[in-house]
Amino acid sequence: MSLKDQFGKDILLTGWGHSKFGKLADDTLESLIVQVAGEAISNSGLDPKDIDEIYLGQFNSGMQPLGFTSSLALQLSADLANVPATRTENACASGSAAFQQGVKAVLAGTARNVLVIGAEKMTDAGADVVGAALLGASYEMAGKASSTGFTGLFAEVAKHYDKRYGAKIAGESLGDVLGSIAAKNHHNGMDNPYAQMHRDFGVEFCRTISEKNPMVAEPLRRTDCSPVSDGAAAVVLSTSATGGATAPVRLAGFGHANDFFPAEKRDPTEFAATRASWERAFTMAGVGIEGLDFAEVHDCFTIAELIMYEAMGLTPRGEGSRAVQEGWVFKDGRLPINVSGGLKAKGHPVGATGVSQHVIAAMQLSGTAGDMQLPNARRGAVQNMGGVGIANYVSVLEAI
Ligand code: COA
Repeated sequence: MSLKDQFGKDILLTGWGHSKFGKLADDTLESLIVQVAGEAISNSGLDPKDIDEIYLGQFNSGMQPLGFTSSLALQLSADLANVPATRTENACASGSAAFQQGVKAVLAGTARNVLVIGAEKMTDAGADVVGAALLGASYEMAGKASSTGFTGLFAEVAKHYDKRYGAKIAGESLGDVLGSIAAKNHHNGMDNPYAQMHRDFGVEFCRTISEKNPMVAEPLRRTDCSPVSDGAAAVVLSTSATGGATAPVRLAGFGHANDFFPAEKRDPTEFAATRASWERAFTMAGVGIEGLDFAEVHDCFTIAELIMYEAMGLTPRGEGSRAVQEGWVFKDGRLPINVSGGLKAKGHPVGATGVSQHVIAAMQLSGTAGDMQLPNARRGAVQNMGGVGIANYVSVLEAI
């Protein structure tokens, strides 16, 4: 079974664009969107007049005053006049929501070529506004005061995980394992020209609380958190190759699952709906985790990456630490994870992240990932999450 078997047509990523991530004082949300839209269309070999529909993933939640952004991409070209454009919002998975809506429009046959964009401009707002906006993705905390923001929510996840599984981690504490994940992703980020943070902190720094690496919300230190970021990414979806400069990449399968919002309806150590989204994508693609050469996963906090090893089926529950301790997820390991540096080092402009992950995977599969390039990358997965395991998206992508 494959996506093509199920729907009778291929979905190809035929062109893509990616801005630098970081604190981009000279850019606006509009300039970032226009930049990546232009790159993606041009690299796909199409012209703006060939685009039938646009989806823009953006969370916003009060970080930008303009609350109605679907038409910003039209600023690229007069030839985009009258193109239907819609903004999707699913918290930090808004970019993947746009991607999957684009896929469905092509599958439905209502569009031949869809432009998918993810974008967020977070650093214009103060830390208090950003913190409150992000907490808008929490059922319990939306609109409430918090000194630890979203980090506090994932810190609770880490505490539950430590209580249940911490004693079983061989020879190290949970904090040590999380420090290793942070160090891995910061090291990988050194090779990513789009990354916000080019700082190879090393394991000891990431494991140690210091003036430069303070506790944000126990047990999560600063290096356990993704940064606050600006950035955008875009991809063009089509059913056939469109003459672009780069070899297109095929979508082999996709999955989406939402969980219940109230915390008491979820096991905080499991991410059950994330697991369901992995299973749906694997089933559609007709492959399992052993068929992947790499994955880009949602490490908004290091504890999320650890639990992801379990949700994606790399290890049984409670044993995710083995994947780091035994080197499986490093660049030269059996399943490299977050070779881009992940959200941790690349940055996490929330609405952009899901599209960025697809672009990075497409670069790997088309052999154009530069210093990030893995040898023999033929099939990879992308996983993007909104809230604490609430809105979950997975894509399996493959080289043609
Ligand atoms: N990881 C590592 N270093 C970081 C960092 C991060 N996430 N964020 C900032 N830094 C570094 C900066 O580069 C800077 O270094 P320098 O002093 O050597 O120049 C230093 O820390 C201070 O930067 P600043 O921006 O003042 O940090 P901060 O303490 O205000 O913010 C966090 C740090 C972790 C609190 C902030 O990045 C954060 O809130 N992240 C989580 C965002 C979030 O919740 N996203 C949604 C996820 S679902």
